[in-house]
Amino acid sequence: MYAVIMAGGKGSRFWPRSRRSKPKHLLDIAGPETIIQETVKRISPLVPPDRTLIVTGATHARELQRQLPEIPPDNILVEPVGRNTAPCIGLAAIHIRRIAGDAVMAVLPSDHLISDSRQFLDTLAIAAEAAEREDVLVTIGIRPTGPETGYGYLERGNPVESIGGRLLYDVWSIREKPPLEQAALFLEQGNFYWNSGMFVWKASTILQAMAAHLPDLHEGLLKIEEALGTGEYESVLKEVYGEAPSVSIDYGVMEKADKVLLIPGDFGWSDVGSWDALWEVSEKDPAGIAFRGPVVAVDSADSLVHSPHKLVALVGVRDLIVVETRDALLICRRGESQNVKRIVDILEERN
Ligand code: GDD
Ligand code: MG
Repeated sequence: MYAVIMAGGKGSRFWPRSRRSKPKHLLDIAGPETIIQETVKRISPLVPPDRTLIVTGATHARELQRQLPEIPPDNILVEPVGRNTAPCIGLAAIHIRRIAGDAVMAVLPSDHLISDSRQFLDTLAIAAEAAEREDVLVTIGIRPTGPETGYGYLERGNPVESIGGRLLYDVWSIREKPPLEQAALFLEQGNFYWNSGMFVWKASTILQAMAAHLPDLHEGLLKIEEALGTGEYESVLKEVYGEAPSVSIDYGVMEKADKVLLIPGDFGWSDVGSWDALWEVSEKDPAGIAFRGPVVAVDSADSLVHSPHKLVALVGVRDLIVVETRDALLICRRGESQNVKRIVDILEERN
């Protein structure tokens, strides 16, 4: 099996730690290692680094290589421009087809947190077995805990097979990022899962699905495939990406595809979309304070402090997010961190 890590995120939600040059997956906000280092390490018992490909933009390629010296440089695929996840996955699929013929590939986001690696790897191994056996697109579904509108929803149908004691289900429909009322209905209905954004399939299976649902992109990908290993590669890549639609795999392929299977995943998943989400999943002291860096707190509670350089002292405060970097300080009420991106917009306007 191959792994493809999609690392094209821009990230403004973790300002001031995330900057244009440092999206979330390149940050060590959730532990001693960066999120992408954790991602690569987590899958390595199942997929070693030499079978792990990373797809990214030119701005971040060098930093990725620095953070991930175990990944062979040829495994870092650089996109000339970001065109969302469908072209990214297509590009990885033709590279894999070239290196390994028709191998199974696990497509993984670069920026998620997972607390139970063993459960995660078990789930991935079973998904891979299903994808190996048949031409199916396997999704990993997460039991929803609220009507989140930032996720895709997978409608679970009947069980179709059992592998290693785990059931895989038919997927009746996929709804990417529904409006709130609809998400709430899905939750009531009880057979909907969040799409984890992780997929397992054979390279040929996803390329066939692209041929059916994104035929122009598929044609472009075949041109790139022809140019692989020749001096033309860079220029063909640039040309095809220049014309490629910006479309996610979810809207472009998954919503329309048939033969989609679901395996439920229960491994402590979080896509940590904000400082608030990070507080939720972080280890906290008895007063509910999660911190990185030196902190002294008196009569304070339920806060997140990230300050690797400076001692932060809290007195009589609660529900705060305090993030300090060399050139900026964020002070935000807990529950409001989705608005941090507005700060980034204002700063960008000023520049
Ligand atoms: N290389 C590359 N190029 N990577 C990209 C690009 C691109 O143009 N665009 C996005 N990515 C990477 C991101 O860095 C991230 O790791 C992953 O692809 C998913 O993209 P997001 O932009 O984070 O997608 P999302 O979170 O809005 O939605 C997806 O994930 C949800 C779960 O977190 C969807 O699959 C949803 O259905 C799903 O629920
Ligand atoms: Mg995401």
